[in-house]
Amino acid sequence: MLREDLGLTGTKVACGEGHCGACTVLLDGVPTLSCITLVHTVDGRQVTTIEGLRDHPLVHAFVRTDAVQCGFCTPGQIVSAAALVEANPTPSRDEIRHAMSGNLCRCGTYPKIEEAISTWQD
Ligand code: FES
Ligand code: FES
Repeated sequence: MLREDLGLTGTKVACGEGHCGACTVLLDGVPTLSCITLVHTVDGRQVTTIEGLRDHPLVHAFVRTDAVQCGFCTPGQIVSAAALVEANPTPSRDEIRHAMSGNLCRCGTYPKIEEAISTWQD
């Protein structure tokens, strides 16, 4: 629905089975795996995709810290990180790792992702 009917191609599909986090969107502010969410269950609720976060400081933090390699996981990473810093603007490394544990990166940019989230307000 997001990618093909609405043209919101920022949200990626990788596993399609709820394992990788590439498809993460915010559903009423809560990170949600869109690939396993039936569209009729979100009727009347607020869905925020990466397009809705294009001006979020986290986007610039990911670029500044070079936290993007192939970039395929990045939209989902930023969506999850946005929910984290909304709830906790200064998360510890452990809090970042816990909050981001559902977002896999096959390029292994985890140290840079942690740096981006740690310094998102800089
Ligand atoms: S595409 Fe992997 S969790 Fe949705
Ligand atoms: S940057 Fe390539 S999968 Fe994360």
